[in-house]
Amino acid sequence: MSAVKLQQPLFSAAACTLRRAVLTVAILTLVSFSYLSLKSLRSPSLSSSSTITRSIQSSLPEIVDYADGDNAERGVVSEKEREESDDVEDDDVYHSPKVFRLNYQEMLKRFKVYVYSDGDPKTYYQTPRKLTGKYSSEGYFFQNLRDSKFVTDDPDRADLFFIPISCHKMRGKGISYENMTIIVRDYVESLMSKYPYWNRTLGADHFFVTCHDVGVRATEGLPNLVKNSIRVVCSPSYDVGFIPHKDVALPQILQPFALPAGGNDVENRTTLGFWAGHRNSKIRVILARVWENDTELDISNNRINRATGHLVYQKRFYRTKFCICPGGSQVNSARITDSIHYGCIPVILSNYYDLPFNDIINWHKFSVVLKEKDVYQLKQILKKITQEEFVRLHNNLVKVQKHFQWNSPSVSHDAFHMVMYELWLRHHVIKY
Ligand SMILES: *[C@@H]1O[C@H](CO)[C@@H](O)[C@H](O)[C@H]1NC(C)=O
Ligand SMILES: *[C@@H]1O[C@H](CO)[C@@H](O)[C@H](O)[C@H]1NC(C)=O
Ligand SMILES: *[C@@H]1O[C@H](CO)[C@@H](O)[C@H](O)[C@H]1NC(C)=O
Ligand SMILES: *[C@@H]1O[C@H](CO)[C@@H](O)[C@H](O)[C@H]1NC(C)=O
Repeated sequence: MSAVKLQQPLFSAAACTLRRAVLTVAILTLVSFSYLSLKSLRSPSLSSSSTITRSIQSSLPEIVDYADGDNAERGVVSEKEREESDDVEDDDVYHSPKVFRLNYQEMLKRFKVYVYSDGDPKTYYQTPRKLTGKYSSEGYFFQNLRDSKFVTDDPDRADLFFIPISCHKMRGKGISYENMTIIVRDYVESLMSKYPYWNRTLGADHFFVTCHDVGVRATEGLPNLVKNSIRVVCSPSYDVGFIPHKDVALPQILQPFALPAGGNDVENRTTLGFWAGHRNSKIRVILARVWENDTELDISNNRINRATGHLVYQKRFYRTKFCICPGGSQVNSARITDSIHYGCIPVILSNYYDLPFNDIINWHKFSVVLKEKDVYQLKQILKKITQEEFVRLHNNLVKVQKHFQWNSPSVSHDAFHMVMYELWLRHHVIKY
């Protein structure tokens, strides 16, 4: 923590004396500190008990080097260092491209999921006719899974068991959070008594999917569902009980997108940073208060009104280099995947957030991940990123767009297949 305490006075002193060298040191400290804090934030998943992750990592030492190379991607290295890092093919957005490629093929060939077929139609998931809205990731997942080759009717062939109960659907019926917890518990208990599968691993080879904010809490009625089962949720924040090495972060994607994907359009991106939204969290209030009148950062301290013009909000993403994504009442929001879709580098401003697919793709290659306290130096941090570095981030962003999009039917490497891959990575943990 001493690094944090140091950097603040150092920073303001530098601003006064305007000694470039001091300023550079301050920013270096700041940026490397954010990097370090990120590393520590990610460390739980590295020290996880997920045996597949561990075995892949120990058999491939280059992953470690790769993670250490993150600094090179933060725009604070000399030209020489940058050239050197280019040589080690680290332009790739995957932590380990080879493992991903091979293991993904293996998943397509072998991964099997058993979907429990009984349930109360009020809570049990049926594919909706329309896949739209804030929580559509839930509907897409259920539908894509059901239509996929991953489903098996034979529980003896299954790697994992899916508990098909929908928090979004229950919420739509006006069921309270408390009652949702009870319904989930009762449903799983009915599966426990009817089938032998839950009891033999106490739920460790079972998974549950929900994009609704209540998702993590809705499992609280049954301790083994929290402790053992894989929960695929849109609210992967450590302060709500998300368990990073076991649970899976489901990206929240508001589809359909209003406008086509952005990309390879850096010359049109003339605004440094953009954010407009509700001030429904402390970090958003600070963001608006500190930067609302800034001439380089386009920060609106409220949502852009539809009356302003057609798709004004979305069009700003095309003109901006960096789109600020501060946590709201919930840490997740569709703003991150909107930014990715429109080709605007997401700037994640959050202290406790497990980014979707974090263990497969390297977010440092296509986004800027900051701590909430960095909000005060936001402009300085963004301005420090060179045009060359920005172009590199942007090009990588275009490469990952396909991972943050749902399709019906699903297509290779889309959000559905990425979530399935996350499940595949966890299926070895317990095998009956
Ligand atoms: C919750 O369940 C109880 C008992 O079934 C019921 O009386 C109550 O109305 C429910 N509340 C909501 C908001 O669904
Ligand atoms: C599984 O365990 C629960 C609780 O111990 C028990 O009530 C249930 O009958 C068991 N299920 C089967 C199929 O044996
Ligand atoms: C840049 O913006 C202009 C005007 O909106 C548009 O016509 C053009 O296609 C954009 N360029 C790229 C590469 O997207
Ligand atoms: C921004 O401008 C408005 C209107 O001039 C003013 O009331 C507000 O205090 C300014 N905010 C900051 C942070 O300077």
